[in-house]
Amino acid sequence: MSEYIADKSKKITVKTLRSMKEAGQKIAMLTSYDYTTAMLVDRAGVDVVLIGDSAANVKAGLPTTLPISLDEMIVYARSVVRAVKHALVVCDMPFGSYQVSDEDAMRNCIRLMKETGVDALKLEGGSEISNTVAHLVRSGIPVCGHLGLTPQSVNVFGGYGLRAQSASEAEKLVSDAHSLEKAGVFAIVLEKIPATLAARVAREVSVPVIGIGAGVEVDGQVLVIDDMLGMNDGFKPKFLRLYANLGEVITKAVGNYVGDVKAGTFPSADESY
Ligand code: KIV
Repeated sequence: MSEYIADKSKKITVKTLRSMKEAGQKIAMLTSYDYTTAMLVDRAGVDVVLIGDSAANVKAGLPTTLPISLDEMIVYARSVVRAVKHALVVCDMPFGSYQVSDEDAMRNCIRLMKETGVDALKLEGGSEISNTVAHLVRSGIPVCGHLGLTPQSVNVFGGYGLRAQSASEAEKLVSDAHSLEKAGVFAIVLEKIPATLAARVAREVSVPVIGIGAGVEVDGQVLVIDDMLGMNDGFKPKFLRLYANLGEVITKAVGNYVGDVKAGTFPSADESY
């Protein structure tokens, strides 16, 4: 095993991620939407912090990611950037902010980069956005792609089921991955597709491939933090591993606090001035 490339004392860059793939070192990516969580996630050694538009679901309680605005993403991203010292910080461009025209995409992406200080952006889609991606990259904006189950297209898919099961959809996904690579993305997220297909993409493209519900034979993994910490009760897809049950811990702690307040046992003399 070669020396660990993601040196804890140094800021991770898109170049670090490429070197990690080349050295066979897995990339750990996780979402965060606020200062405190991002600080803990960064401290724990995550390589990439993603301000996902999943904030629409897990922070705003919305059924899809479609309604979240650029202004809302900017608020989340600013808080995360203030906390992260080591990880690469990537922010999702929300639905509608990059599809209208290259000029509109450029204006919105530059605004997000300038007003938040994130290191890079993530856009959903394949060949249909590759010209936009190439334009952004040429202008100095690092872009991460996202293929497979792209939640901003949920209404076209008709749900959140496994993608690329047919041979034709699988071939389209592979060709989209090549088209994004050619456009200059620094990484590609593959969501909820067969593991064998994800492994093929990871072998065929030179940029790191980060999976979520895409098996282990890719260059790294990403999860939504609220999901993996057990704070999102109703969401239990097969690909999700629960690393804690904070939902239970928080409910119990808050219940104890409520009990103490009602019983008049909080604060005690020691907790008073
Ligand atoms: O919005 C998000 O959190 C994401 C990840 C699930 C990859 O795009």
